[in-house]
Amino acid sequence: MAPLVPSSQPWVEKYRPKQVKDVAQQDEVVRVLTNTLETSNCPHMLFYGPPGTGKTTTALAIARQLFGPELYKSRVLELNASDDRGINIVRTKIKDFAAVAVKSCKGQGGYPCPPFKIIILDEADSMTEDAQNALRRTMETYSRGSRFFFLCNYISRIIEPLASRCAKFRFKPLSEDIMITRVLHICQEEGLDLEPEALSTLSSISQGDLRRAITYLQSAARLFGSSITSKDLISVSGVIPQEVVDSFFAACRSGNFDLANKEVNNVIAEGYPVSQMFSQLFDIVVEADDISDEQIARICKKLGEADKRLVDGSDEYLQLLDVASSTMRAICNMQEDFS
Ligand SMILES: Nc1ncnc2c1ncn2[C@@H]1O[C@H](COP(=O)(O)OP(=O)(O)O)[C@@H](O)[C@H]1O
Ligand SMILES: [Mg+2]
Repeated sequence: MAPLVPSSQPWVEKYRPKQVKDVAQQDEVVRVLTNTLETSNCPHMLFYGPPGTGKTTTALAIARQLFGPELYKSRVLELNASDDRGINIVRTKIKDFAAVAVKSCKGQGGYPCPPFKIIILDEADSMTEDAQNALRRTMETYSRGSRFFFLCNYISRIIEPLASRCAKFRFKPLSEDIMITRVLHICQEEGLDLEPEALSTLSSISQGDLRRAITYLQSAARLFGSSITSKDLISVSGVIPQEVVDSFFAACRSGNFDLANKEVNNVIAEGYPVSQMFSQLFDIVVEADDISDEQIARICKKLGEADKRLVDGSDEYLQLLDVASSTMRAICNMQEDFS
């Protein structure tokens, strides 16, 4: 593959820490893996936690630091959600890779090179249960010569027999401080000028997900050049402008159906994604201090139901209208059901 020209390389890759010690905030896993580098002792691992918190980065870094570039290909197998990982792949590809035993070649090129292979299953929670079950045997049979790294957002989607064989590490959402430090570092390297307000906007729209923050930053830089404002970031992030959400909520509060309907039509006509609308609406509803907890609960329940229906393929307009009218009824204390 031809090397990427620098300008087109995603910054998410360009600024991915290459060493375990440079992974921020996840102190526990960094400590354990630093120890691994010294002792070559490594259990099977399960990394879980929200997106953009360093799971992939950490797994790639430890693999690179253990084996170095020369042995990497023969010692590390990376599979992510875009690879086919059905039951047959588990039976063949992973097994074939794990079955060929390796010797320790300690100290080759200055790398520890322990006598095992690493199999990284990124986004493992998207693997079917059957495929996960097929892995149990593979893991058991080849446990001497291989270490599995499972990476996922939701630990509950990893079957217990796999999870119980692993040392588990929860990756925490990144704090605002860390996000800001990383973002400023990239700005400096890339010669970007962020207005002060843009920095806090960026950390609030990316919600502890550094991948999102870096991606927004790069998109904004592409579109708007080296001087970036808060507004630029919002426009590339797909976040709905706060005025739109506020005016939608105000219309629901007014108890005037025509007004609410007009807001619904406006959101649809502007092409804002309704699921995004729900998520921002949720943020203001739970913070609203002039409506009762019961009213908040009723609206949230409705938001949850409507969001689920959207996921199931329902019509955006109808779901937004449903949320608008239910919110109106909840706030104006009308009967929830007329039946
Ligand atoms: N804890 C962290 N320390 C430093 N950089 C991080 C951290 N978490 C995420 N990043 C940055 O965010 C991007 C996405 O991180 P990644 O490891 O792919 O996240 P995920 O947890 O979704 O696998 C990378 O470019 C990386 O530089
Ligand atoms: Mg990842």
